[in-house]
Amino acid sequence: MKEKAALLTMVFAALLLTNCSNLSKTSATKQLSTLKDAYKDDFLIGTAVNVNQIKETNPRLTEVEVAHFNAVTPENIMKAEILQPEKGRYDFELADQMVDQAKRRNMLINAHALIWHSQLPGFVRRMKDADSVRHFFKDHITTVATRYKDKVYSWDVVNEALNEDGTMRKSIFLDKMGEEFVVEAFRLTQAVSPETKLYYNDYNIEQPKKRAGAIRLIKQIQAAGVRIDGVGIQGHWNVNNIPMKDIEDSILEFAALGVDVMFTELDISVLPHPFQSATADISARAEYQAKMNPYAGGLPDSVQNKLADGYEALFRLFLKHKDKIGRVTLWGVSDADSWLNNWPVRGRTNYPLLFDRELKPKPAFDQIMNIKQDVSLTQGTNHGQLN
Ligand code: XIL
Repeated sequence: MKEKAALLTMVFAALLLTNCSNLSKTSATKQLSTLKDAYKDDFLIGTAVNVNQIKETNPRLTEVEVAHFNAVTPENIMKAEILQPEKGRYDFELADQMVDQAKRRNMLINAHALIWHSQLPGFVRRMKDADSVRHFFKDHITTVATRYKDKVYSWDVVNEALNEDGTMRKSIFLDKMGEEFVVEAFRLTQAVSPETKLYYNDYNIEQPKKRAGAIRLIKQIQAAGVRIDGVGIQGHWNVNNIPMKDIEDSILEFAALGVDVMFTELDISVLPHPFQSATADISARAEYQAKMNPYAGGLPDSVQNKLADGYEALFRLFLKHKDKIGRVTLWGVSDADSWLNNWPVRGRTNYPLLFDRELKPKPAFDQIMNIKQDVSLTQGTNHGQLN
């Protein structure tokens, strides 16, 4: 009797073990391990690439980039000051390398940016007369967009043409060419690169007034019979102020115009912001003060978890509207490379991305992966609640 009972217990235990190991096998096979796979049915997952990534100076960085992302945006190397450092002298070396590399890796390129008032070459910044500006405008767009036609998936044709109140930003283009420069940029790009997707890109355009300005621009382009395929919301936000409602309203309002919505430069700063209101204007700078750099020795768990919850809330929102969203691009791979370590204050230690300085996935990464798993598999793994 006793023996029978012991045998039954053993059989039971064995069954239990097999079940458990089957269960863990199922969850292991179900466990998605890369971002681009997890979101493959939803939208592209992009990253910004810098010169080190193009030159492949860090094998681990290459590995992480290729594993997790299926789209790239050049962080700097396709800006006018790099592509045309002197009048009529183009330098395509790095851009060509990036294009070849992305092709080998099967990654789509969002080229960035044809017309932007920042990072312009000196010869353009010094221009006084309208004719010279018009000449640069046409020559630069035509030369660059022709070279990369059929090689890049999309162009940020115009970057940051708006003020916070939705009016046109003062710039050499507005000054010498008038408001029409935006339509003109799209017209010229479309003419030489008819298959490429054409986007307007800006920061804070989820904010109501600036959003209204972006809607006005998109409608102007459409009314002129020129193509615009999408709008890029940059998404440089702060962990204490992620404007969820404005973001959702923007997704809906932009999509209603018949254009794709993209989040193009996503990063979430955890550091104090030196200005009254949020900006991503690269010319805005503030002096270093120790109190502005509170986490130089490491990020407290409370902030780490808040950052993860912020990312999770955003990705849940993106998923809710995945039919309207074409791409979500992080502005870099690891915290070590983020521009936010040096902007708007130089020499700080920021933690805005999904991989840490050792290229290990952060809780934010785990949480945006977890929301793509079966609910049963994610229970208990989330860090905190969403609000
Ligand atoms: C930033 C780069 O990340 C920095 O390396 C560079 O020094 C300045 O520009 N909006 C944009 C991006 O459209 O091109 C900017 O990139 C960040 C703000």
